[in-house]
Amino acid sequence: MKTKKIVLFASGSGSNVENIVHFFQNTPNVAISCVLSNRKDAYVLERCNKMNVSALYFNRTAFSASDCVLDILVSLDPDLIVLAGFLWKVPAAIIQKFPNKIVNIHPALLPNYGGKGMYGMKVHEAVKNNRDTETGITIHYVNENYDQGAIILQVKTSILPTDSPETIAKKVHELEYAHFPKTIAKLLEV
Ligand code: GAR
Repeated sequence: MKTKKIVLFASGSGSNVENIVHFFQNTPNVAISCVLSNRKDAYVLERCNKMNVSALYFNRTAFSASDCVLDILVSLDPDLIVLAGFLWKVPAAIIQKFPNKIVNIHPALLPNYGGKGMYGMKVHEAVKNNRDTETGITIHYVNENYDQGAIILQVKTSILPTDSPETIAKKVHELEYAHFPKTIAKLLEV
């Protein structure tokens, strides 16, 4: 059976990247080709080192003012590109080159709390400030507008009045760890 290749993008800690790498460790026909990060000091790069996963750092010019990252992606020939805590908008040239092959995870129930500037703890703080009684995760395809591509999966969790933004973040991360790798596997049909 042909090996399915995943390329991951991450900007920060990379706990989702680590969880995805572990999930596919014993799946012989899935390979994590490379993890790409736009932050030189992102902890995800250290995690990749420890896990012996290839990782690269790129800057803004490589990503959106030249074809550098696009060319790297073309040469890696991924079956799926996964944004796992990646905070830059993906340029149109990359989206057009990989139609329906780029997915993102968002730590809220889109269309709520989506768009530019809405990421990580900012989302959970906004959810808490609005006294919402539920939140969750959204896994969706990436199109040219932030957080607006077709939704693949949403999973909810309830919020207690005693929850803080930190405990909300923890609940959301648990959902991400439980559902993101399985959804990737389904998309890859492995
Ligand atoms: C995750 O909760 C992910 O949903 C979120 O960033 C976190 C990354 O955590 N993504 C966004 O907010 C995208 N708008 P991690 O680095 O520990 O995986």
